[in-house]
Amino acid sequence: MIAETISLDEEAAVETDAARPVTVRKARMQDISAMARLINSYANNGIMLPRNELDLAESVRDFTVAEIGGRLAGCAALHFYTPVAGEVRSLAVAAADKGAGVGRLLVEALEHEARECDLATLFAFTYVPGFFTKLGFTQVDRNLLPLKAWKDCLSCPKFQSCDEIAMLKKLREVDLKPAPALGPFVQLPVVRG
Ligand SMILES: CC(C)(COP(=O)(O)OP(=O)(O)OC[C@H]1O[C@@H](n2cnc3c(N)ncnc32)[C@H](O)[C@@H]1OP(=O)(O)O)[C@@H](O)C(=O)NCCC(=O)NCCS
Repeated sequence: MIAETISLDEEAAVETDAARPVTVRKARMQDISAMARLINSYANNGIMLPRNELDLAESVRDFTVAEIGGRLAGCAALHFYTPVAGEVRSLAVAAADKGAGVGRLLVEALEHEARECDLATLFAFTYVPGFFTKLGFTQVDRNLLPLKAWKDCLSCPKFQSCDEIAMLKKLREVDLKPAPALGPFVQLPVVRG
């Protein structure tokens, strides 16, 4: 596989398979319907959080997409939480394109973007820790993630029974400290199992 890095406004054609070149680029408004269909095809099975088109339009600048033959093969978003921490979210690869390196290309593009923006860490909540391990992430205690990340958990249907695994990659040396204890009105999600 030819792994190219892309800057924020470039697009890169990357060969995962000689017959099926993958183009990785920042998302545009025209991608939103296909992104919503892809993300919600997994959300319907409880694998991902649902996203609607209005919410995707609001955060379209977070998104990078992968195209094969002009059709959406995958998408992923880099969401900034603090001046040093960002989250990989809404990562989805079309069923027909799984296992061909598209997920890797998307996360590598987000990592490149995160480094360009000088982030120190990239994290994800996921049911597929093995995939993130392949990309250099390690499992961490969720208390090491920025407190602000929990605000999205408040609106999640799985708030009190969250079973997603926190994965983190340091992009440069940084001292991670557990988040301070929360007040009585906010409770962190309970991890099952
Ligand atoms: C998880 C997902 C994004 C992976 O995308 P993909 O394009 O199939 O993955 P890639 O082909 O780029 O795989 C990269 C590496 O991870 C490995 N990998 C892929 N999926 C894996 C999984 N579920 N568990 C463990 N390892 C996995 C591959 O074997 C490959 O390893 P290699 O480099 O040693 O060959 C895709 O399966 C998907 O969209 N799943 C449904 C939605 C989802 O779970 N999203 C994650 C939300 S955080």
